[in-house]
Amino acid sequence: MQIVILSRGAYLYSTQSLINACYRRGHRVRILDHMHCDLIIGPKWYVNHLGDEITQVDALIPRIGASVTREGAAVIRHFELMGACTTVRADALLRARDKLIALQLLAAQGLPVPRTWAIHSVDQLPFAVKALGGWPLIVKLIESTHGLGVIRVENMQMLRAIVESFRATAQPFLLQEYIEEAHGTDYRALVVGQQVVAAMRRQAALGEFRSNLHLGGTGHSVALKPEEKKLATRAAQILGTSVAGVDLVHSNRGPLIMEVNASPGLEGIEQVTQVDIAGAIIHWLEEQVRKKRHTSDNRAT
Ligand SMILES: Nc1ncnc2c1ncn2[C@@H]1O[C@H](COP(=O)(O)OP(=O)(O)O)[C@@H](O)[C@H]1O
Ligand SMILES: [Mg+2]
Repeated sequence: MQIVILSRGAYLYSTQSLINACYRRGHRVRILDHMHCDLIIGPKWYVNHLGDEITQVDALIPRIGASVTREGAAVIRHFELMGACTTVRADALLRARDKLIALQLLAAQGLPVPRTWAIHSVDQLPFAVKALGGWPLIVKLIESTHGLGVIRVENMQMLRAIVESFRATAQPFLLQEYIEEAHGTDYRALVVGQQVVAAMRRQAALGEFRSNLHLGGTGHSVALKPEEKKLATRAAQILGTSVAGVDLVHSNRGPLIMEVNASPGLEGIEQVTQVDIAGAIIHWLEEQVRKKRHTSDNRAT
């Protein structure tokens, strides 16, 4: 297969791990920087990458950073329309990256998520605080990543100040109940296709409630319960992210889905669990490409 990895850094662990898995399984692989992909719409569709014409791609693995979600989605869509199979479709990336859309879609399908309010007026804050169970509560940027923009708020004065500054800088945010009983622990399930291929428990650093590894959290391999695996695969399926890092927290009313990451980092979880996740991703793409070829062969006959 001809595989393209969209990545801004060929040296990054996740990209390297995917490149090695491609070679191990006998595929050709190219790394394209999505911020250098010109999208050509015309009688001939192609992608111009720094002067190279890219026309034939069987499979795509987008690794898109949060600051360039829309630019990345445009490139993914172009490759999709050129016939490539992808680990995350453009629309799925946009859905997963917007925490409000993601929570709306998951909750509408009956999946358990933290109670969340998206409000516009500072006047409504007292009602929201009451409905969310009082202090502390969480304010979260709709497009936060690596835990940046996730704030635990202890009182109304602090909440007003944060909400006013987010509004002034036009950064959409959510208010969310604080899941105190999670004690800074969450569970990252790595979903590939319809399966959880690896999982880790992440514990926040001392004095921190956010369990992100980027913020000093530590990971440990863990076996998820069947119902947790089911929740994770269902969440990825609802958002349409075929490869996803689904985060769960344990609350007093059972497991809740915190978010679905569309470009999950592989470094921490591959090292902690010793699972060849990159290999599982390439294997899944091989199946998708095979199915697609089979369908188009049947149509042609
Ligand atoms: N409502 C909440 N209650 C308790 N902890 C939370 C809550 N929301 C987020 N956290 C903690 O903060 C971390 C980061 O939040 P998350 O919503 O995943 O944002 P990001 O996309 O920035 O990682 C979570 O992994 C979890 O440990
Ligand atoms: Mg997260």
